[in-house]
Amino acid sequence: MPSPQDHAAHHHGPVVHAPPADASTAYRQAFDAARPDPGRTVVAVNFEAREFDWTIAPGTTVKGWGFNGQIPGPTIEARVGDVLELRFTNRLAEPTTLHWHGLRIPAPMDGTDMVQSPVKPGESFTYRFRLPDAGTFWYHPHVNESEQMERGLYGALIVRGDAEPMLDGEQVLILDDLKLDAQGQMAKFGGLVQRHDGREGDARLVNGKREPQLAIAAGQIERWRIINVSGARYVRLSIGGAPFQILGTDVGLLEAPVAATEVLLAPADRVEIAVGPFEAGEELAIEGLAYWRTTIKRRKTERFATLLVGPAKPSKAVIPDRLRTITPLATGSATPTRTVDFGVKYSLRRGMDFVVNKEMHHHDAPVKVGELQVWDVVNSTRMDHPFHLHGFCFQVLAVDGKPPAWLSWEDVVNLPPKSTTRIAWMPDDRPGSWMYHCHILEHHAAGMMAHFDVVR
Ligand code: C2O
Ligand code: CU
Repeated sequence: MPSPQDHAAHHHGPVVHAPPADASTAYRQAFDAARPDPGRTVVAVNFEAREFDWTIAPGTTVKGWGFNGQIPGPTIEARVGDVLELRFTNRLAEPTTLHWHGLRIPAPMDGTDMVQSPVKPGESFTYRFRLPDAGTFWYHPHVNESEQMERGLYGALIVRGDAEPMLDGEQVLILDDLKLDAQGQMAKFGGLVQRHDGREGDARLVNGKREPQLAIAAGQIERWRIINVSGARYVRLSIGGAPFQILGTDVGLLEAPVAATEVLLAPADRVEIAVGPFEAGEELAIEGLAYWRTTIKRRKTERFATLLVGPAKPSKAVIPDRLRTITPLATGSATPTRTVDFGVKYSLRRGMDFVVNKEMHHHDAPVKVGELQVWDVVNSTRMDHPFHLHGFCFQVLAVDGKPPAWLSWEDVVNLPPKSTTRIAWMPDDRPGSWMYHCHILEHHAAGMMAHFDVVR
């Protein structure tokens, strides 16, 4: 029974939509169970996906697909304990869904075709769930991702906690790349190189614009929340070689800031960094440093944006030595409960197939609520793959037997070539159909994914 506070919070929130009459029982239950915490609210948002002209630079306009006429889609901001209620309408010519990347939400809201039928052109669907964790998350379709995400269907979701470090400002940087043809239009989709390497393009975008200029005031320290939404590109991020502090990764803050001059973002990875202070007039290149993930094409150092430092402003930034406490789920010597193998197989017809445990679109064994999972995630190929787990976050225990650089909550981890990454995660009581996959979108589509159930 809802408590009086629940009722009040619910009542004072914006008008909520009722679940559709033909909805499944699981969806209806998840919809009704999503109540804001006492003192929190319902964040109600309407999204409409459609095609429009996307100007990535003066004189360069491509056919984009975006939410509410913008790329990236609107940044959704909320607090831990709020309920997000998002009414989605599809005005594209093909079916789609919304997946909430990194959020621990009930299975019927996960946006995969295992848990809902894709929203047909002209139809609507309402996602409604409580936001359980602070961090930098994102949303994207989970249908024909290779094209839908390349065309611009993505955006950020920021969830704030009660104890956040106070910096002078905040920016969200969504990194992407776009493959254009000789006419400056969206290059055709498909082909063997794209299937093997994943689709990478030479137009590098920040927040939907090609190599834009960003600004920061001299003397100030900002919190940057960075999301790599590219389909395949790895970004070894550098800010003109200047030192910065890593505050958080996929799902919220680290235990303590880590000083760095570069950080690797695999596709779908997020990082939160403290940037600055700089001197007025400085100009810094925001770049992806050379990185070779053993693909056909090798990437050199390439610029994403330029940071211009403006006149000085006073700073009130305080970055505490301790950001939060993360309780380890297990140690690196924990006995694995399962081995998951990301591999390739040669097919006469298609060239290379991408597989999990030797099978395209693998069906993995169920996982029981409350039973700690320790997985050895093996990459038996010669190229990098970003492993992504839906709906649950994990801790990295060891990479080839060595402890990771920090303890953190992740939903993506890069698997280096010929390596074993040991992760731990706890299935809490959210039964249903889930998946894990390579977040190089073309590898996912070519079979490097697995379905599994969480059961009571
Ligand atoms: Cu961001 Cu199934 O993925
Ligand atoms: Cu892959």
